[in-house]
Amino acid sequence: MKDQIEAIQTEALARIDSANDAKTIEDARVGILGKQGTLTKVSAGMRDVAKEDKAAVGQLLNAARQAITAALDSKKSALQDIQDAEALKGIDATLPGRSVHQGSLHPLTHIRHEAISILRRMGFALADGPEIEDEFHCFDALNTPEDHPARNEKDTFYFDSGKLLRTHTSSVQVRTMEGEAPPVRIIAPGSAYRRDEIDATHLSVFNQLEGLYVDTDVSLGDLKGTLEYFLHELFGAETEVRFRPHFFPFTEPSFEIDVKLHAKGQAPKWIEVAGCGMVDPAVFDAISGSRKDDSYSPDKVTGFAFGMGLDRLAMIRWGIRDIRLLIENDARFLSQFA
Ligand code: DAH
Repeated sequence: MKDQIEAIQTEALARIDSANDAKTIEDARVGILGKQGTLTKVSAGMRDVAKEDKAAVGQLLNAARQAITAALDSKKSALQDIQDAEALKGIDATLPGRSVHQGSLHPLTHIRHEAISILRRMGFALADGPEIEDEFHCFDALNTPEDHPARNEKDTFYFDSGKLLRTHTSSVQVRTMEGEAPPVRIIAPGSAYRRDEIDATHLSVFNQLEGLYVDTDVSLGDLKGTLEYFLHELFGAETEVRFRPHFFPFTEPSFEIDVKLHAKGQAPKWIEVAGCGMVDPAVFDAISGSRKDDSYSPDKVTGFAFGMGLDRLAMIRWGIRDIRLLIENDARFLSQFA
């Protein structure tokens, strides 16, 4: 039996040694150590071995099994190494990885989100209106006479139908009051369109945010407090804000609001960011005409309104010198806001 075991071991090791794929190895394992394997079969002969030889033959059998198992394992891992090396051929594992490009918010989106969030905290709800407007909602109801320069074809994009691209978001004020009884407290962010010559501070499509608050006792103090708070939240509590008397057809009194801009390397200067005022009674009268009720009668309600340029706010916030950067989609510019 000893000779048999030695012969099987020798033959097995040679077989394993010459195997060069996983299947041949597995076949060898089954053929030698499996249920019907050569070594398994021989070990059945143990029962016929003389008592005094059992220990020695048993040891030999174990040693053969261990040697064969070790040879199988090392052959398997050697084959695996060859396979791995093959798979990695041509791959330089020392090359730096490719970075994943991550998008980020456009500065305009960012400033709009921030503005909306501040005003919502103060109780303003979002409102919406069409960008293709009629003259009534864009001008007439807002007390803007026929001969007002803003209505001129040179300034406004008109369609053949007589409709127009809204020149400001103030038209949403009108639509809101037509649809809802007071009190109303809304903000309406959105695009506005003008036939402006495009330069560093003008685009023909720009972004505004309109606000309107109408109730029984809204005062100029409310207007000032609301907008000062808003601008301090947006630009920082130490930011200087001033209200400058102005004229708008739809508010009386009216103001323009300036913010003191401290840009790096430049002398501080006042920048206009918004128009505002107390809603003109003529606007309430127009709304009463549309609604055919007196819920917005100037005898009952007062209100304030404001409209600001979101592009301007973004420019001030980040010291952007040319408004055109906001629409050029140059990744070198935009990535600074990531
Ligand atoms: N509509 C004005 C503009 O586009 C901005 C504005 C001024 C809106 C005063 C208002 C306001 O609601 O009360 O320049």
